[in-house]
Amino acid sequence: MQILNSQLQLNTALNSLRALKKTIGFVPTMGALHDGHLSLVALSTKETDVTVVSIFVNPTQFNDANDLKNYPRTLESDLEKLKPLNVDYVFVPYENEMYPEPDTRVFDFGNICEVMEGKHRPGHFNGVAQIVSKLFEAVKPNKAYFGEKDFQQLTIIKQLVNDLKLGVEIVPCPIVREPDGLAMSSRNMRLTPIQRKNAVLISQTLFESINLAKTLSVGSLIDWVIKTIDKNAELEVEYFEIVDDIRLMPIQLWSEQNNKVGCIAVKVGDIRLIDNLTYKL
Ligand code: PAF
Repeated sequence: MQILNSQLQLNTALNSLRALKKTIGFVPTMGALHDGHLSLVALSTKETDVTVVSIFVNPTQFNDANDLKNYPRTLESDLEKLKPLNVDYVFVPYENEMYPEPDTRVFDFGNICEVMEGKHRPGHFNGVAQIVSKLFEAVKPNKAYFGEKDFQQLTIIKQLVNDLKLGVEIVPCPIVREPDGLAMSSRNMRLTPIQRKNAVLISQTLFESINLAKTLSVGSLIDWVIKTIDKNAELEVEYFEIVDDIRLMPIQLWSEQNNKVGCIAVKVGDIRLIDNLTYKL
């Protein structure tokens, strides 16, 4: 496993492999790796000849300076976790490598970047699109692996690849959960033991809502989920919406044909967690 810091090093390493018609799998991350990330890496190493993982805490996708400052940075232990996984290259660029000058590009994905995370974290998806397009340009992968926990991000990246004709196959990977159900997230490591205990109510409530969806209307189910979580004084629901999985428009009736995804963001103290699940009715 080789660690590279510049795009030049990356190009030199990957060009010869491309010439040999090797397929390149790419797992972009912001580090603080957990089993969710490692599952993406495992799939990439299984499906492609060469796996590149990037670790870069991208400043342009943080709309909150405190969130950027507090985002966990654990490079040494990240590299330890990647070592046994047959990763070929870990790309760890410095900020001025990715942003030698400010990126002024503005992406317009319409509704899919205006709702939910887009509404509550203005500019977030523009920053994600900026860095992912730069990383795709640097790595030129055949396949790139993204977790379904960031369901809206996944939708936007598919759109980005389509709009910019990047020719990268986007591979969605299922959410990996802790044994008690909490969706794995780099932010979980910032939770205090009490917050961690309370945070399990998020996934618990989502799972329970699957059964309730058989008897409650969409609107009543949304109210129930929000009230159930908000009853816990440590938790505050920022939004819970049930949307279709293509345009991310709100579902009105369970009888609609679209796939229906319940997406939630919850504040646990100053830590913001997201999760989602699909209602199969
Ligand atoms: O999902 C993430 O960790 C980040 O948004 C990504 C895709 C690595 C871009 O910085």
